[in-house]
Amino acid sequence: MKAIILEQAWGVENLLYKDIDTPNIEKDEILIETRAIGINPVDFKMRSIGAIIDMLYWNNRPVILGWDIAGIVTKVWSEVTNFQLGDRVFGMVNFPGAWKAYAEYVAAPENQITKIPENVSFEDAAATTLAALTALQALQGNVKPGERVFIHAGSGWVGHFAIQMAKHFWAHVTTTSSAKNKDFVLSLGADEHIDYRSQNFEEVCSDMDFVLDSLWGETLKKSVHILKDGGRVISLPDPQSVEAISDVAGSRNIDASWLLVKSSAENMMTLAKMLDSWIISPTIANTYSFDEMREAHSELETGRTVWKIVITL
Ligand SMILES: NC(=O)c1ccc[n+]([C@@H]2O[C@H](COP(=O)([O-])OP(=O)(O)OC[C@H]3O[C@@H](n4cnc5c(N)ncnc54)[C@H](OP(=O)(O)O)[C@@H]3O)[C@@H](O)[C@H]2O)c1
Repeated sequence: MKAIILEQAWGVENLLYKDIDTPNIEKDEILIETRAIGINPVDFKMRSIGAIIDMLYWNNRPVILGWDIAGIVTKVWSEVTNFQLGDRVFGMVNFPGAWKAYAEYVAAPENQITKIPENVSFEDAAATTLAALTALQALQGNVKPGERVFIHAGSGWVGHFAIQMAKHFWAHVTTTSSAKNKDFVLSLGADEHIDYRSQNFEEVCSDMDFVLDSLWGETLKKSVHILKDGGRVISLPDPQSVEAISDVAGSRNIDASWLLVKSSAENMMTLAKMLDSWIISPTIANTYSFDEMREAHSELETGRTVWKIVITL
């Protein structure tokens, strides 16, 4: 099969289109013929950090990036009963952990994937995996009807799912983006918009019940100031920034935590239902063919991609 191999870390030129053996399936796995791959900022971060690749792959080469896939079941482990040959499936495979999704065939544990609803394309399914799971795992159970929710970077990939889900949970949503994406985030259901380039959110917002922070730097520290006492903040970038605000958060009874998204078939089923009933809808910016992975990474790396980049096979 064809796969995109990484022989060393750093630039996009290290993504190599090669022939390798099709993976064998192990206990409780299914083999998926890939039809679409979703790519995420974490993909190019991993590509650039040799130490992480060495840690995750030191005895598991070749290195194949990617987690988000949609495709067709071509083989199932003898005791797997939930899937049959020919099923259309999608999921985020083995996150956090060694990934293997930039390939024509992917071996996936059955407890990490689910079936694609009939009316949903492979591209939309692949686009509704890691970022959508992150938004779901951050918001589900954390947002109650009528609460005031603040979502940073609502035009970003996690943010744009988070807005749609928070509205589904009947929250009042305030979000940030640049001015050019104001109409987009409002069209997703956001009630209020702040242009982060011309306004400081911490000066114009207050009394929030919940904040979803997906930005690096000082954002988390400033976010604590817009929360009610007893509010909640989930941060995505790194656990250290959460540690850094623990004193001030604790003094106001604010629950501050870092979330690391995890593969889950149960959560994928929720996403499948949300897709099927139009509660969430992904917006795809661009599709690239499998042999254009370098171009796709280069576009994503600009950090200005509002909508999803999907690879089709
Ligand atoms: N911990 C986890 O499990 C986990 C899971 C998923 C993602 N993440 C992390 O979460 C972050 C977001 O991921 P993503 O896929 O949503 O990113 P993304 O789609 O690449 O985000 C890009 C968006 O960020 C917006 N943006 C940039 N600077 C901003 C600012 N200062 N204020 C408000 N918006 C700003 C831009 O908006 P404009 O174009 O409107 O300027 C752009 O649309 C990444 O760092 C990712 O690694 C962590």
